[in-house]
Amino acid sequence: MDAKTGKLKELIDLRKQAKLGGGQKRIDAQHTKGKYTARERIKMLLDEGSFEELDMFVVHRSHNFGLEKEKYLGDGVVTGSGSIDGRLVYVFAQDFTVFGGSLSETMAQKICKVMDMAMKMGAPVIGINDSGGARIQEGVTSLAGYAEIFERNILASGVVPQISAIFGPCAGGAVYSPALTDFIMMTEQNSYMFVTGPKVVKSVTGEIITTEDLGGAAVHSSKSGVSHFKVATEEEGINKIRELLAYLPQNNLEEAPIVECSDPISRSDDFLNEIVPENPNKPYDMKEIIKGIVDYGKFVEIHADYAKNIIVGFARFNGVSTGIVANQPNFLAGVLDCDASRKAARFVRFCDAFNIPLLTLVDVPGFLPGSAQEYAGIIVHGAKLMFAYGEATVPKITVTIRKSYGGAHDVMSCKQLRGDLNYAWPSAEIAVMGAAGAIEVLEGREIANIDDPEERAKFVEEKENEYKQKFANPYQAASYGYIDDVIEPRNTRFRVIRSFQTLQTKKLSNPLKKHSNIPL
Ligand code: HXC
Repeated sequence: MDAKTGKLKELIDLRKQAKLGGGQKRIDAQHTKGKYTARERIKMLLDEGSFEELDMFVVHRSHNFGLEKEKYLGDGVVTGSGSIDGRLVYVFAQDFTVFGGSLSETMAQKICKVMDMAMKMGAPVIGINDSGGARIQEGVTSLAGYAEIFERNILASGVVPQISAIFGPCAGGAVYSPALTDFIMMTEQNSYMFVTGPKVVKSVTGEIITTEDLGGAAVHSSKSGVSHFKVATEEEGINKIRELLAYLPQNNLEEAPIVECSDPISRSDDFLNEIVPENPNKPYDMKEIIKGIVDYGKFVEIHADYAKNIIVGFARFNGVSTGIVANQPNFLAGVLDCDASRKAARFVRFCDAFNIPLLTLVDVPGFLPGSAQEYAGIIVHGAKLMFAYGEATVPKITVTIRKSYGGAHDVMSCKQLRGDLNYAWPSAEIAVMGAAGAIEVLEGREIANIDDPEERAKFVEEKENEYKQKFANPYQAASYGYIDDVIEPRNTRFRVIRSFQTLQTKKLSNPLKKHSNIPL
């Protein structure tokens, strides 16, 4: 066939036309805003030359508002499959140059097709969102299209990893597809997510607020926790997706890839023996411990700016992908509050769903007291984390670094929540509460009866010391077998790796049920 005339030429021309989306003018406008087009984004995301596009010739079928006269090949979304580091992924990228990436019935069908393929093949789905929401001219068929996508997001949850990048607008009910996925990433400046925009907010509540302050990357990464990653540029975002996928399996029936590791498993770091301050009220940076023990000190943190009193993220131990949950004494003393509990619970469930072993590093003074937390439902939020750990059947190792008090001790993957191996550093304090609080409760009446302040202080000090002697250590817990061993801090890497090796063949399942009823 001749490429200059006839049928082949027609195909070539149609392909060219499809690749222009809504036309060069709109592509230029997209670039002027500092944004890439859907195709450019997919090209950056996937391994070179791996993209297999589907449904390039799909067009909308609407006749409303003269829409039948305005059709673009591909209709507002670019979809297909490709590979990332040689592993199959399915992808859709909304094309803002076509009706502002707004969702039509046919566009929804295209997205659903790749989601269905991903489920059949057992491969992750990556969605790049840049859309004005429901295609206004289509009305209810657009809403139905969204719901078709939502249902697939729900059914795919826990089966294949789903990642959403927000590289432009994402408003109204459209936010719920990303919200149903495992990870959301937002670019600074150019992306926003909200259920109702600033204009509606003003008319309904009188509140005057900018788009950025209402639903920009900064607020969703630090205040609401909706977004797991905030990135400065789309390039950074795309690199982050590629990096993240390397820690994840393709689906719930597979393991995450194991990579070659030349970082010695017996590498010991002497600084770990010194990192915990003598004074239990002094903070230190838990991330130093994490970096000290994982392969090459490499840690991919999730939700880095949200609920900083708990740290979650992925690292490798001897090449094996591992989820890490750790209290952060450097922020609010590592206390567990509503946000920290929700953040960690969701992460634990993700890891459990995708066969990623869990390491928990504990230094927690307890749950944050006060009416604000009680009214915000700390009881149910704390229960979420407890539930997530208790239900998880993946290998679970816990290392108590310092404080492990009260209910928070139980929540943080204790032995009785089916922790497989629970270790403690000699600096661990495993008790119902800290010494000051305990003495106040136990000796309050006695203390109140001592008039002389000096004598009172001496009495309190003596009692506190007695309490610390008894409880501010790991040995009482170890004497019951709740702690399997007290380990030298600098050997933590070695002990964790060897323990995970022994847990490789772990088999544990929960009682048969339709599903659990996690306290949402
Ligand atoms: C049809 C749309 C559209 C939409 C944008 N366009 N949004 N077409 N349906 N929802 C078209 C515009 O007409 C324009 O066409 C092109 O896309 C680019 O839009 P601009 O407004 O020029 O771009 P910009 O200034 O960057 O503003 C982007 C925007 C704005 C903020 C997204 O377009 C906007 O506010 N759109 C409406 C958003 C909205 O209210 N959506 C419905 C939300 S409710 P031309 O031809 O000029 O290129 C919803 C419910 C979902 O989504 C429920 C799910 C359950």
